[in-house]
Amino acid sequence: MTTNPFTTTAPQIAASILSADFANLQTEIDDVLAAGADFLHLDIMDGHFVPNISFGPPVIRCVRKATAAYLDAHLMITDPLRYALPMVNAGAQNICFHVETVDNPADAARELRKLACNVGLTLNPATPVEKLWPAIDLVDMVLVMSVVPGFSGQKFMPEALPKLRQIKKRLRPDQRLEIDGGVNVETIKPCRDAGADWFVVASAIFDHPDRASAIAELRSLIT
Ligand code: DX5
Ligand code: ZN
Repeated sequence: MTTNPFTTTAPQIAASILSADFANLQTEIDDVLAAGADFLHLDIMDGHFVPNISFGPPVIRCVRKATAAYLDAHLMITDPLRYALPMVNAGAQNICFHVETVDNPADAARELRKLACNVGLTLNPATPVEKLWPAIDLVDMVLVMSVVPGFSGQKFMPEALPKLRQIKKRLRPDQRLEIDGGVNVETIKPCRDAGADWFVVASAIFDHPDRASAIAELRSLIT
């Protein structure tokens, strides 16, 4: 378990609780962390920016109480600036917003920098990487989506790989590059080779009968 993934350059596996059993969230969190996940990825969906609704600050607060692991919040919502503070107050440590949801990504990043959190920037598969450039120096991490956001269990889109390479070239050593969507034993190594540092995984961990061996295999492919 990692309490601050920015303190290491080692590749990190983030378990997305979107595929967890929410009736047994404490057990699920304990289980994936004991199985070797480095930190937790929280998929926040509002039913507007994406066609699915997941959870918000009340559940983040419960997750915060359940673990000391780093909490990486991926905001798939139309108004990230409105909800970032309640999420940070609930315990989210990284606020990663979609470039498509704000008028001016650099201004949004500057606003979020005022909060006690790390700040991340992400983009949909259909969005060109150039949209990131005005804000890229202002964030701690960039997340590349390798599925159309909204659901776990989708197929990895290989178009994400050239995006990872292009973005990696623009990042400083203290910034991190994350990949999210369809990451599994077939797709994780190409993502590592393209420059990803952090790997979000939901179904390939939570739906696996042996989560510890699933994570060990994923890690062996990127180390
Ligand atoms: C998709 C979410 C992902 C999702 C990943 O909208 O952002 O984090 O949970 O799920 P898998 O790993 O199953 O593709
Ligand atoms: Zn996500």
